[in-house]
Amino acid sequence: MNVKDLFDLTGKISLVTGGAGKYGRCIAEGLAEAGATVIIASRNMDHVNNVAEEFHHRNLNVHALQVDQGVHASVISLKNNIITQFGRLDVFVNNAVSRPMKDYNAPIGDFAKSMETNATGMMDILREMIDLIEKSGGGSIINIASMMGMFGPDLSNYEGTNMGNPAPDYFFHNAGLINLTRYLARIYAGKNIRVNCISPGGLFNHQPERFLENYCKKVPLRRMANNDDIKGLIVLLASKAGEYINGENILMDGGLNA
Ligand SMILES: NC(=O)c1ccc[n+]([C@@H]2O[C@H](COP(=O)([O-])OP(=O)(O)OC[C@H]3O[C@@H](n4cnc5c(N)ncnc54)[C@H](O)[C@@H]3O)[C@@H](O)[C@H]2O)c1
Repeated sequence: MNVKDLFDLTGKISLVTGGAGKYGRCIAEGLAEAGATVIIASRNMDHVNNVAEEFHHRNLNVHALQVDQGVHASVISLKNNIITQFGRLDVFVNNAVSRPMKDYNAPIGDFAKSMETNATGMMDILREMIDLIEKSGGGSIINIASMMGMFGPDLSNYEGTNMGNPAPDYFFHNAGLINLTRYLARIYAGKNIRVNCISPGGLFNHQPERFLENYCKKVPLRRMANNDDIKGLIVLLASKAGEYINGENILMDGGLNA
């Protein structure tokens, strides 16, 4: 098969949770530019509708649906809406994240709130969407974790800023998601379902100047990730081009942890 055809996603129905967020928007754009029909789903319908409309103006096939992944009925309703409106699901990018815990000393209830969405809710939506993909004949699941699920925090990045220390729940649930990826790849063996994970480094988002200075000098590429960096990797894992990659976690950090 020609290599351009291997990367082509024409006709593939793809779901990106948190698709109106920072990385989610880049992921949705990459999938749609490769030809996929993309559903972006989030809690705030106005937000996803606006982003889908922006993409429509660029002739990209992006649709908005609602989900609160911390609420089982909402996950089931998303599944039913995908079946009714699109008939199938081929690609699921599990990208949504909530950040209710602000730092190490925050109330323990904030940790529990985080787990509701980022652990229990994530397991719920993964199981339901993989079920839909299985019923559609197979496909690709891409979990978005973080380099913070692989390494401890580098506190020197925050020196001279008022950003505080990073919250512990994020390190906990992202590490879990990386190994859940391997678990799911095994559980769905023989069902034409691949499960992979991307662990990105920080995305440039106009962070404070001092943070950018602290962070970028340690990255061999001397910069944070930009809006294009994740697109190729997503399309690789979603498409036939990545068909022999399974159960993998790919660190995308510009060499920061090399
Ligand atoms: N931004 C970064 O620098 C960075 C770095 C490494 C990894 N990541 C990973 O990228 C992914 C996206 O992060 P981001 O920074 O783009 O986040 P973001 O906050 O910009 O977007 C997250 C999205 O998830 C949605 N969401 C939150 N709770 C939800 C719920 N209960 N149900 C449905 N949707 C919900 C939000 O509405 C939002 O659209 C995460 O998995 C994160 O771990 C981000």
